[in-house]
This record gives sequence, C-alpha cells and structure tokens, in this order.
Amino acid sequence: MDIKRVGVIGAGQMGNGIAHVLALADYDVLLNDLSQEALDRGLSVVRKNLDRQVSREKITAEERDAAMARIIPTLDLKELGQTDLIIEAATERETVKNAIFEDLLPHLQPHTILTSNTSSISITRLASRTDRPEKFMGFHFMNPVPLMQLVELIRGIATDEETYKACLAVVEKLGKTAASAEDFPAFIVNRILMPMINEAVYTLYEGVGNVQSIDGSMKLGANHPMGPLELADFIGLDTCLAIMNVLHDGLADTKYRPCPLLTKYVEAGWLGRKTQRGFYDYRGETPVPTR
Ligand SMILES: NC(=O)c1ccc[n+]([C@@H]2O[C@H](COP(=O)([O-])OP(=O)(O)OC[C@H]3O[C@@H](n4cnc5c(N)ncnc54)[C@H](O)[C@@H]3O)[C@@H](O)[C@H]2O)c1
Repeated sequence: MDIKRVGVIGAGQMGNGIAHVLALADYDVLLNDLSQEALDRGLSVVRKNLDRQVSREKITAEERDAAMARIIPTLDLKELGQTDLIIEAATERETVKNAIFEDLLPHLQPHTILTSNTSSISITRLASRTDRPEKFMGFHFMNPVPLMQLVELIRGIATDEETYKACLAVVEKLGKTAASAEDFPAFIVNRILMPMINEAVYTLYEGVGNVQSIDGSMKLGANHPMGPLELADFIGLDTCLAIMNVLHDGLADTKYRPCPLLTKYVEAGWLGRKTQRGFYDYRGETPVPTR
C-alpha cells in the first residue's frame, strides 16, 4: 500500500514534530487541532525547527519552504478523511482519543490506516472501539521527533501484516529506525526507562545519594549522556508518574510502585523543565539541584 497523504491529529509537542518529519520526507500532511491558536503555535514551532536545520546546513532553504507548504492546517476533522494514514497525537487521555476516532470514522476511506502515538494506552483497546482493528496500530515517536532515531511500531492483537508493513515503509522513508513491540504496558523503551528513573528517585528518597551524585554517577559510571533525574525533568515528572502507574496497574507487580517522592513533586506542581522546577530549579542561569 502506497501512503501519500497523512493526517496528524494534535499539533502539540509530538504532533508538530511528526508533521515536520513527514513533510520533509515528501508526505502531504493535514494537521488538526482544537483551536486556531494551537495550530498556529504548532506551525511556528515547525518553522523554527526547520530554520534551525537550515542554519546547521542539514537541509536547504528550498527544502524548508517545500516542507512548510506541504503541511495544511485544519480545524475540520472531516478533511482528514481523505488521507491514507492517520497518526493521532492528541492529549494522552483515553476518552479524548476514543472521541476523536468516533468523530473521524464516518469520514474515513476504507483503506485508511489508523494509528496512535500514545505512550501508554493499550493499542488493542483503542482499536477495539473502531471499525478497523486490523488496520490499527501504535506509531510511537520519541521526543523530540526531528532528532530521535527510533519509532516503536506496536501491533494490537488484530493488526494485520499489510498494515505493519505499510507503517514500516513510512518509518524507513522518514530515515528513522523501527522497533517492533508487542502491545503490553509501556511497550519497550518506557518499560525499561521509567523503572530506571523511578529507581533513581527511590535512591534520592532513601538518601543513598543527592541529585548531583545520582546524575553524575549514571553519566560517568554507566556512560549515559544525561542523568536519570535530569532526564525525568526533561520528560515531565507528571508523564513519568503516569507511565509508572500504567506499569503498576497493567502488570500488577509491586516492583513498579511509583516512588512517593515522585508523587510529591507532581503534587507540588514541580513537573520539571516545563514548570521551571523539578529535580532541578531552572529559574536562574544554570540549573540548581532541589535536593
Ligand atoms: N511528550 C512526549 O515525550 C511523548 C513521547 C511519545 C509519545 N507521546 C504521546 O503523544 C501524544 C501527544 O503528546 P504531546 O506531548 O504532544 O501533548 P501536548 O499536550 O503537547 O499536545 C497535545 C495536543 O492535542 C490537542 N488536542 C487535544 N484534544 C484534541 C482533539 N479532540 N482533537 C485534536 N487535537 C486535540 C491539544 O490541543 C494539544 O495541542 C500523547 O498520546 C503522548 O502520550 C508523548
């Protein structure tokens, strides 16, 4: 199956990055969100990131302009009916995603593949609410999308081989690498990464080390480019907690118990970089550990 037009739902952090890489790889993109402001914000981020690529000589100014011209913003979900592939990247709430698919389904062509960029919701469950579970799968980009090489492709229990191969071909055309994952809580990357971050927070909670010694140890002792607490601040502590809860509930194993200190930071609204405070305080010139 040849995919030419792609609908991206949600123009936030992930959706605008997905539109960016698709447009650079010659796909026509219809980008949908709830408000004109959200679309404008998304498009201006794409433009800024493309400009950066031009200044670093990764792409030419002509390629940037052609990519921008390939992204058509729309508030009308119906218009996404005329696409070959949908990548849903709206807010991480199951009711939101179900409502989007319900609104979209009457307008979709029979051949259109439906996918979700969800980090934690069951692909099989999302698929079961649609008219095409065999043409439904997880298309999980990493953040920031233009920079990260991996895409996890997650098959639901009913996903057929043709759908998987069509999505794999898209990942390859983007110049990215796919990892195939089965549909179990948090898939591969987050299944391994989040318990490591959670354990780093336990190490802090129990006073084994402070923020600096924990991050320093993992950078110098395990060769990680970023310490686990620094990385947690980058991802968002609310997101880390939500994924730990998905692992804890979905696998019913106490080894996934979210650290109470992680919960406390989230309760305080200290969510990491996006709120300027998390395991580090970002309000000054350089980040200062908060513990
Ligand atoms: N942030 C990450 O690091 C990351 C990584 C991988 C996957 N994801 C997944 O990507 C998805 C989006 O996450 P994000 O970080 O971009 O969130 P975000 O909050 O930055 O963006 C979500 C966007 O969806 C829009 N939206 C909400 N309801 C909508 C609707 N009914 N129709 C159209 N648009 C709607 C919002 O207005 C917002 O612009 C989530 O499923 C998340 O789990 C996030």
